Amino acid sequence: MTADDASELDQLLDEQIAHYRAIAPEYEDHVIPFAGADELVTALDAFGPGGTVLELACGQGMWTGRLLRHADEVTAVDASPEMLAIASDRIGRDDRVRFVRGDLFSWEPDDRYDVVFFGFWLSHVPLERFGSFWALVANCLKPGGRVFFVDDAHRSPGELVEGESSTTIRRQLNDGRAHRIVKVPHRPADLERRLAALGWAVHVTSRSGPFFWGSGSLV
Ligand SMILES: C[S@@+](CC[C@H](N)C(=O)[O-])C[C@H]1O[C@@H](n2cnc3c(N)ncnc32)[C@H](O)[C@@H]1O
Repeated sequence: MTADDASELDQLLDEQIAHYRAIAPEYEDHVIPFAGADELVTALDAFGPGGTVLELACGQGMWTGRLLRHADEVTAVDASPEMLAIASDRIGRDDRVRFVRGDLFSWEPDDRYDVVFFGFWLSHVPLERFGSFWALVANCLKPGGRVFFVDDAHRSPGELVEGESSTTIRRQLNDGRAHRIVKVPHRPADLERRLAALGWAVHVTSRSGPFFWGSGSLV
């Protein structure tokens, strides 16, 4: 990657953060209208994220409460203070939760966890940063720790302003403002192979609609 490419990617990732900061108050208006999301919850409960849990890109805390049904403690990180404020209101007073503002492309953990979880985040990690993101996940886990993620591969035709093959899309707010964000349409088998090449044994499952989930650990 040239210096120009790297700086273009940094700009895109900054725009992605700006997008989520701006969309925070209306985030639930943009939830994708497909059946199958309930399977993700069932799969997470079956995985059982017990012990100490790190949630990356927690957003409005839609998954944080679910994690707290299993976990002793949850540390939840997100780059958007607006998202974190909504998450904190949603969870209310709970000494088992710590919300942390951090940019996951530079953030460093101050602890190691039994489980790392991320919901609808992996598809926003550009492929150029896929390896370094998973190195961060490895660095956040205790020996024998486990990872669980849920995501979707949905991109609407109107978002594909740079073409079907591009992983950069343009997403709109209710008032028409738009930002470029990353949306990688991972396919389960390719994702498993990509992770195996980095030393992870992760099983990725997809049943209905565009949703999938993955669970596993470092080999
Ligand atoms: C699609 S939302 C998912 C939120 C939540 N996990 C959920 O499932 O509802 C993506 C989240 O990633 C956060 N985010 C975007 N770029 C980030 C970055 N560089 N570091 C940390 N969080 C980031 C956004 O603020 C947003 O909350």
